[in-house]
Amino acid sequence: SAQRRYSIAVIPGDGIGKEVMPEGTRALEAAASAHGFEVDLQWHDFASCDYYAKHGQMMPDDWKDRIGKVDAIFFGAVGWPDTVPDHISLWQSLLQFRREFDQYVNLRPVRLMPGVPCPLAGRKPGDIDFWVVRENTEGEYSSVGGHMFPGTEREIVIQETVMTRHGVDRVLRYAFDLATKRERKHVTSATKSNGIAITMPFWDKRVEAIGAEYPGVTHDKYHIDILTAQFVMNPQRFDVVVASNLFGDILSDLGPACTGTIGVAPSGNINPDGTHPSLFEPVHGSAPDIAGKGIANPVGQIWSAAMMLEHLGEAEAAASIMRAIEETLATETGRTGDLGGKADTVSCGKAVASLIG
Ligand code: NAI
Ligand code: MG
Repeated sequence: SAQRRYSIAVIPGDGIGKEVMPEGTRALEAAASAHGFEVDLQWHDFASCDYYAKHGQMMPDDWKDRIGKVDAIFFGAVGWPDTVPDHISLWQSLLQFRREFDQYVNLRPVRLMPGVPCPLAGRKPGDIDFWVVRENTEGEYSSVGGHMFPGTEREIVIQETVMTRHGVDRVLRYAFDLATKRERKHVTSATKSNGIAITMPFWDKRVEAIGAEYPGVTHDKYHIDILTAQFVMNPQRFDVVVASNLFGDILSDLGPACTGTIGVAPSGNINPDGTHPSLFEPVHGSAPDIAGKGIANPVGQIWSAAMMLEHLGEAEAAASIMRAIEETLATETGRTGDLGGKADTVSCGKAVASLIG
């Protein structure tokens, strides 16, 4: 019988990436067998500082051929600042993927989970549940500009924000599409059109134009300064929040921070049209301070597996991973030490896997 089958490039990277990844793939394999599909896991040792030590570069020259045709990339974390400066390890790996694979959406859930202490008073699981959609390729993070007369009284630095209609419209469409699949069907746009008086009014106009294509989805907008305050004071108000590259960068850290720990937070770097593979990874880095101890929280990696399966169209499998995570986090024996529990990386991962399906 013809089975659904997904080829997945598995890249653990550095530090705790190598410890949490086996728990991510354990969950994936459990979900595959419970839900009747196959995963073809292709492990790669590049995009790591160990690879750099051996080869003098983070990735082989033909990295694009090696992973460009897979259905998705499952990534751990990269970085080992003692041996390779972060700007090299990051720019020669992860940022290449995002750029070369045109992963123009950075997607992060903001969801309060059981067993995770909420830094906001009086909130319980279910109260906070929204998505941050960040534009991932243009906007404020441009290389248009220059630096003149460095070190002199005449020193000038300029860095221009670049917004294209193509780039803005496609991330907005992604956000509105996502909202159609949600119960509340609401998009909030981050703006600053009162202060940034050229690009942000353009962004607002495109929100109106794209919003008009989605009569079933409501939308509103906040200036970024008050929006950050609303994340903290009224997080229950949000459903899908869409933002430019810089605003999205800030919101996609603030949102997960409002729901507890980065140890459980996942993210997707998504090429929605499927021309190139999308990449799913935990929000956290390689955590050199705890690497090698077997105590890292694997939930961020496992939740990333759920996001990846959702992206691949395996919504039921994704939901069953999410239920297993919630059940595991709810018990002291299931949670890792960073959440005050008794589990280590492997026992937490095994607990989740045993509850899938
Ligand atoms: P980090 O996220 O690695 O660690 C920050 C703090 O959170 C540390 O105290 C760490 O022990 C703790 N932590 C992180 N993940 C955890 C987990 N799963 N369970 C329990 N505790 C956890 O950020 P940091 O220290 O700023 O960066 C370390 C390295 O990681 C650097 O080389 C940096 O460039 C890289 N990095 C890579 C990212 C990626 O691959 N996407 C993202 C962020 C950082
Ligand atoms: Mg950031």
